[in-house]
Amino acid sequence: MTEKLRKPWVEQYRPMKLADVVNQSEIISRLKQFIKDKAMPHLIFAGPAGTGKTTCALVMVREIYGRKMTPNITFLELNASDERGINVIRTIIKDFAKAKPPLDIPFKILILDEADNMTAPAQQALRRTMEKYTRNCRMILICNYSNKIILPIQSRAVVFRFSKLSDNDIKERLKSIVVKENIKIDESGLNALIKVSIGDLRRAINYLQSSSTLSDDINEDIILRIAGEVPSEEIKKILNYSIKGELQLSKLTLDKLIREYGLSGSNLIRQMHREVYNLKISEEQKIEIIKILAEIEYRLSQGGTEIIQLNALLAKIVLLNL
Ligand SMILES: Nc1ncnc2c1ncn2[C@@H]1O[C@H](COP(=O)(O)OP(=O)(O)OP(=O)(O)O)[C@@H](O)[C@H]1O
Ligand SMILES: [Mg+2]
Repeated sequence: MTEKLRKPWVEQYRPMKLADVVNQSEIISRLKQFIKDKAMPHLIFAGPAGTGKTTCALVMVREIYGRKMTPNITFLELNASDERGINVIRTIIKDFAKAKPPLDIPFKILILDEADNMTAPAQQALRRTMEKYTRNCRMILICNYSNKIILPIQSRAVVFRFSKLSDNDIKERLKSIVVKENIKIDESGLNALIKVSIGDLRRAINYLQSSSTLSDDINEDIILRIAGEVPSEEIKKILNYSIKGELQLSKLTLDKLIREYGLSGSNLIRQMHREVYNLKISEEQKIEIIKILAEIEYRLSQGGTEIIQLNALLAKIVLLNL
């Protein structure tokens, strides 16, 4: 058991070579060219969580510098939403970019994670540093949405868009970890893991590691519990009772789920939203229910009391008289 508590698997199984990065093949082949030429422009890596952005940035550094990969000397990895504040970050960035690279190195690399969290003025300052010290230092800015990066930076960089990983890519990667860790997981568990991680490999690997500390034989039920998800059947039951006008039964099922799984209201609404599409009702009826879910989710975000809002949700569905 203690053996399984060592290093986080997301770190342990983070690809060390571009060749090990799954999917993103177009990006990989362009990055390979940069490595071969030992030249690269400023880059923006944009895309959803857990798809390999940070991994690719680190691999670039490793493949360009090899054993000369030294923090602060040849490369620097920073997080723009660092609690030290953007002013400190700005100074660090500037100092790093200003200093000449070691003689045998063509340029240094600055990796700036969560760059889309920077305010526009901070980005303007970054742009100036970028421009002034381009010869010394190339930047890789990482973000979820490239449209949150100011245009002058976008136009000085090449944007690479990372796509969500396919179910198959995630499955293959998980399977290889399962073999290396010598754990047991059945097909239903693997499929549940893929379903709850929605294209985010980091999440999938984290859930797998947590599950492995709970059991030596992982199945769907364990994965769903770890992920804070309820079996779809249970969610459908709640919705179907309300649709049939059975408010009391629907409420009892909801109460039971909340007790057993300890879920938050917004989590439940997210799962209901997913299940609405699988209900056997007309499109118009689905639309009506989705509108109600959206309204209740908004009220919860404004601080409404969870249990009252969830009951109101059920009551509103009953009142639709579907
Ligand atoms: N394309 C990929 N190929 C192989 N492993 C991957 C890939 N994407 C993610 N992973 C795995 O998931 C972990 C997280 O990936 P990474 O840090 O690169 O995500 P990210 O895209 O930077 O996400 P975030 O936006 O949340 O920072 C890695 O340690 C690695 O194990
Ligand atoms: Mg990242």
